Amino acid sequence: MAGSPEKNGDKMDTIIRKLDVNKIDSDIIDEASEILKRGGMVAFPTETVYGLGADALDETASAKIYKAKGRPSDNPLIVHISNKNQLYRIVESVPETAEKLINKFWPGPMTIILKKNDIVPKGTTGGLDTVAIRMPGHQVALELIERSGVLIAAPSANISGRPSPTTAQHVKEDLSGRIDMILDGGEVGIGIESTIVDLTDDVPVILRPGYITKEMLENVVGRVDIDKGLIVPDENIKPKAPGMKYRHYAPKADFTMFNGNMEDVVNHINEEAVKRINEGKSVGIIASEETKDMYKYGNIQVIGTRLDEDTIAHNLYGILRGFDAADVDIIYGETFEKNGLGQAIMNRLQKAAGYHIEDV
Ligand code: TXA
Ligand code: MG
Repeated sequence: MAGSPEKNGDKMDTIIRKLDVNKIDSDIIDEASEILKRGGMVAFPTETVYGLGADALDETASAKIYKAKGRPSDNPLIVHISNKNQLYRIVESVPETAEKLINKFWPGPMTIILKKNDIVPKGTTGGLDTVAIRMPGHQVALELIERSGVLIAAPSANISGRPSPTTAQHVKEDLSGRIDMILDGGEVGIGIESTIVDLTDDVPVILRPGYITKEMLENVVGRVDIDKGLIVPDENIKPKAPGMKYRHYAPKADFTMFNGNMEDVVNHINEEAVKRINEGKSVGIIASEETKDMYKYGNIQVIGTRLDEDTIAHNLYGILRGFDAADVDIIYGETFEKNGLGQAIMNRLQKAAGYHIEDV
């Protein structure tokens, strides 16, 4: 269960600073750096989603992240770095597979898991002997790490259990009054979190699918497996990334996906929607460009064309948050192909739906 965020009197003023990504104001980066250096929290954009950052090597600082997000303490944080030397500082050793993947995909949306050394406190790694590391492909994030000299522990900057934030506005909705600063670098590019690859064994294992697909990894290092805990929701197989076991990315409404032939799915959703609306419920529908004109009822949101998975990934969390804002009771959606980036898209949608998928 995701814990609920602390509700206490110590509300803080959250400073919000806008940054032009093409012309980054170094005074603002310095201001944010000072906050990080004194153990505070700064939310910042990355190429995947916004992160909530604090000093990864300071247990007291990273503890604040758990409190602000209402995050269970066994759910480890990703350490964000800006150059490779920082990697060697915090892990026991860097295997050859890691070197190859890093050379190909960093900076970028890939997080690797390696054995940590004693510099990294267990408070940052949820008690584990391993650490997740990523070099984000976003100039604001890189400059913040570089100028502050702080290795930044950062989960997605949402209240635990809510959809990840793809704009500074989303961060503000969840964390205003709980954190020191939000750096607003506009909308993120990718829109879903990084691919997590466990490199602690001989064969790399994907613990969370993301923008870097299994095929892309395999092109660099040969065989790559997928964590069994990700493939089917099974009580007996726990996902290896602690965070993947929570119902996550979740909108407030009951969300069901329907799987099958496109026309049957649309007809079924239309029938279900009209029933629910007649019961007095409000219904949100996640449509694709291909089907949007076939829906007749409810709050219809187009996630993108089935021919462009990048757009679907980019719009996913914003649509789920939009349904929260519109206070819909029920969400119906279509399923997508699980090839390539589709694997990450379906992973997030399935989790948002609490694995509620029906064949029609
Ligand atoms: O794209 C991203 O990765 C974003 C941006 C901000 O960088 N960050 C992000 O962090 O998604 P978060 O905390 O929302 O998700 C981190 C995931 C969790 O599922 C966590 O359990 C897993 O990474 N994780 C972290 N350290 C781990 C470790 N040592 N072993 C296994 N899983 C780990
Ligand atoms: Mg998250």
